Amino acid sequence: MKVLVVGSGGREHAFAWKLAQSPKVQVVYVAPGNGGTALDARLQNLAIANIVKLREWAQANKIGLTLVGPEGPLAAGIVDEFRQHGLRIFGPTKAAAQLESSKAFSKAFMRRHAIPTAEYATFSDPATAHTYVDQMGAPIVVKADGLAAGKGVVVAMTLAEAHAAIDFMLVENTLGVAHNEGCARVVIEEFLEGEEASFMVLCDGRNVVPLATSQDHKRLLDGDQGPNTGGMGAYSPALVVTPQVHARAMREIILPTIKGMEKDGIPFTGFLYAGLMIDAKGQVKTLEFNCRMGDPETQPILMRLKTDLLEVLLAATEPAGNSHFENLELEWDRRTAMGVVLAAGGYPLAPRKGDAISGIPREADDAMVFQAGTTLTEGTLMTVGGRVLCVTALADSVRQVQLRTYQVLQSIHFDGMHYRTDIGHRAFKTQ
Ligand code: AMP
Ligand code: GLY
Repeated sequence: MKVLVVGSGGREHAFAWKLAQSPKVQVVYVAPGNGGTALDARLQNLAIANIVKLREWAQANKIGLTLVGPEGPLAAGIVDEFRQHGLRIFGPTKAAAQLESSKAFSKAFMRRHAIPTAEYATFSDPATAHTYVDQMGAPIVVKADGLAAGKGVVVAMTLAEAHAAIDFMLVENTLGVAHNEGCARVVIEEFLEGEEASFMVLCDGRNVVPLATSQDHKRLLDGDQGPNTGGMGAYSPALVVTPQVHARAMREIILPTIKGMEKDGIPFTGFLYAGLMIDAKGQVKTLEFNCRMGDPETQPILMRLKTDLLEVLLAATEPAGNSHFENLELEWDRRTAMGVVLAAGGYPLAPRKGDAISGIPREADDAMVFQAGTTLTEGTLMTVGGRVLCVTALADSVRQVQLRTYQVLQSIHFDGMHYRTDIGHRAFKTQ
């Protein structure tokens, strides 16, 4: 079978790498891919960005299955387009992708279906938003209503920060996020305390298969300091997700979400990612939904997946009524996996580009460097900004996988390269 992966990040490199290991897969196309997917002989990059053109190409080239990595094409309706033309694709429709693309939609959905989440209110008028913040007090959280690549959330520890965030998102609209009703909106919500974890499942519209748990590190600097980023590193499994927390997240969040979406007439197919906040008593609330796998969480999670990913995705996209998806059990490597992101100078505000990358070690049984912001130009691997590489390894414990991952990245160099040196540190709080 010929398969297609849509996207260009480390998550998509990991998807393509894993799919290429399936004995049934003949070739994996990656659109548009990156320098890492260009270098792998089993993968082939495809320079098509337009959704209709990609669908036409997939039809002409008899692509058996398409897997979409990022939220952008999902929110733009790539799944609807492919399905309307009889192509098999794994991901949510445009309507279902609103769980991620609109905070106002997902908060209203959670309220309607009694799914635990922070208390909130939605505003498009700045004056009312300012008054609300004054009433509620700090800390408080201000979120732009729209896709903002991880930059649309301000956790305001003071009232001044909250007021500034309202002006930034509603008055100046500097983020330029695409809003759903032609005006800028913000969601202002209660500040939650606890330990975060990433909880991802596969859904076929009705049934759910959970993936291994993980924990991301969203802040730029060691000790969880500095601005939010797309994610600077992750490890799996997340020890904070005890069997009790896991059962609760399934019972109180995931299953009611899938049922609720089905009931609302927009069944959810694809990866559903719930960002969890787990408090000291083990109560679980939803911080956010994503309609896709996380990046960098995918890289360590797929390092641990032993089951053939193609078989899993085929089961998840079988025509309704003919599914063995509900009985699917995934097999996981018992070891811990960790991914450390090597970022470009200036990331996340103004990442620099065009630096030559050297010293990437060969793939080993227990280590793989997934590429993201890279390009292959006349045989030289160069940075094209943002998160450049995700160095991923497997070992018997968090401590050991930390040692191994940081050892693997020692040989890698590009000008401006920076990374966190403490990925996994939260695991020691919960051990
Ligand atoms: P989001 O994109 O909604 O997941 O928000 C990004 C990050 O902001 C989360 O990973 C949390 O660290 C933080 N955050 C979001 N909402 C809240 C909240 N209600 N309380 C505390 N922290 C939050
Ligand atoms: N790493 C967080 C995300 O993918 O949203």
